[in-house]
Amino acid sequence: MATQRRVFLETFGCQMNVLDSELVKDQLLAAGYDFAASPDDADVVLYNTCSVRDLSEQKVLSRLGRLRQSKDTNRDLVVGVLGCMAERTGQDLVAKYPHIDVMCGPSELDRITELIEQASTTRGRGIALSGHNDRRQKVQDMATERLEALDALRFADDGGSAAQAYVRITRGCNKFCSFCVVPFTRGPEVHRPADAIVDEVKRLVDGGAREVTLLGQTINHYAHEGTSFGRLLQRVHDEVPDLPRLRFLTSYPRDFTDEALDVMAGSERICKWLHIPAQHGNDHVLKRMNRGYTRADYLGLIERAKARMPDVSIVGDMIVGFPGETDAEFEDSLTLLDEVRFKGLYVFKYSPRPGTVAGKRDVDDVPQKVKKARNHRMLEHQQRISLEHHQAMVGETLEVLVEGAAKIDPAQQTDETGAVLHTLKRKAADIRLTSRTRGDHIVAFDGPASLVGELCRVTVTEARELSLSGVRA
Ligand code: SAH
Ligand code: F3S
Repeated sequence: MATQRRVFLETFGCQMNVLDSELVKDQLLAAGYDFAASPDDADVVLYNTCSVRDLSEQKVLSRLGRLRQSKDTNRDLVVGVLGCMAERTGQDLVAKYPHIDVMCGPSELDRITELIEQASTTRGRGIALSGHNDRRQKVQDMATERLEALDALRFADDGGSAAQAYVRITRGCNKFCSFCVVPFTRGPEVHRPADAIVDEVKRLVDGGAREVTLLGQTINHYAHEGTSFGRLLQRVHDEVPDLPRLRFLTSYPRDFTDEALDVMAGSERICKWLHIPAQHGNDHVLKRMNRGYTRADYLGLIERAKARMPDVSIVGDMIVGFPGETDAEFEDSLTLLDEVRFKGLYVFKYSPRPGTVAGKRDVDDVPQKVKKARNHRMLEHQQRISLEHHQAMVGETLEVLVEGAAKIDPAQQTDETGAVLHTLKRKAADIRLTSRTRGDHIVAFDGPASLVGELCRVTVTEARELSLSGVRA
């Protein structure tokens, strides 16, 4: 390549997308591309998109709109849409935004370099979509065959040495919750061989990873040639003894076996942390959502988990304003918060997604104003619970993994006149750091920048709703 071409890559949406973007980045680096900090400095602009909510898609459309002009002035600019939105919208998007050169679905990302080359040399388009919407069996076979293609690319470039690493164990989802677009965009559920997973974790730990998070849409469904999810957890834990922290997401509230809970409880280095979306607290709504469990089932699982791990930290997802949700049904979601006592909660306002059952079957009849009010009430409700969890931790000394410099530094906070609000005694070399406990609690404390990526011990001194403060123990 005569001059090194620069890529700007922006990622939207979930952890799965963050991992996909890392793998895309590795491939492009290996192919000799460089990375730019803004679209203005780039020859190739890529958006790795999310379709889960309408809002995520709107963000990408506005980015694409802005790029139209850049493309007018620079005909060589390559514009690519990757991930779920590419898969979902397909040719329709290209018809509306003809300046798109590359479209690549989440299951085809191992072909990204080829697609970009194709678009830049022929000035045609590079398009790779799986068409998960039809011919499911054929797609299933294809998906199984191609399963390793993308994840295997991870070590194409061996620059990666992040302390926190992600490893996919399952792709896709077969659940078809009535509101969710994921089974259409990411295709059918396929599981990676256990040996490939253990091997990848080993290599990441050899490269410096201190915390590995296994990823899957319904991760506890993992099953491959006789290896259950519980057995897989056990294998990773036992066969990679140098890994201090092992975690996983996202759990599905059904079919979470006692075996998997027992392995969690009995393996010291597995974090006692579960991300289990409940989505709703009312059985009628759960049924309309096609979730396949009741409120009592969900609470039963939480009880089984707490019985084995009294200190387990539980995070949930909830949707407010699902079609037909009454005030009374919404109240059931609020009382679920009290019964579970989530450590943290992601709350989403329902938005209809094209192609989904709810999108076709139901009228989106909860007014935006009501969705907003319910969203607000639920967040407030959760904040009280989170604060109580945090207050109970004051005085405890905990192991944390340092993630980086904190965004907010109390020593720099000023009032409207510019006067510094806090006087802190701090060593000259120290900065404000942000870190996480094994239960995923955020703890800010002062220490040297050299601690980033390391595990250390911190005593909690102050509790707030979203985070904790502490001092090095
Ligand atoms: N199992 C997946 C869930 C993917 S979607 C995972 O690993 O993250 C993430 C969350 O988005 C869901 O749990 C749900 O709470 C929310 N969500 C999905 N579709 C939605 C929709 N149509 N409207 C609002 N929220 C939605
Ligand atoms: Fe979506 Fe339900 Fe699967 S929320 S990702 S269809 S488990």
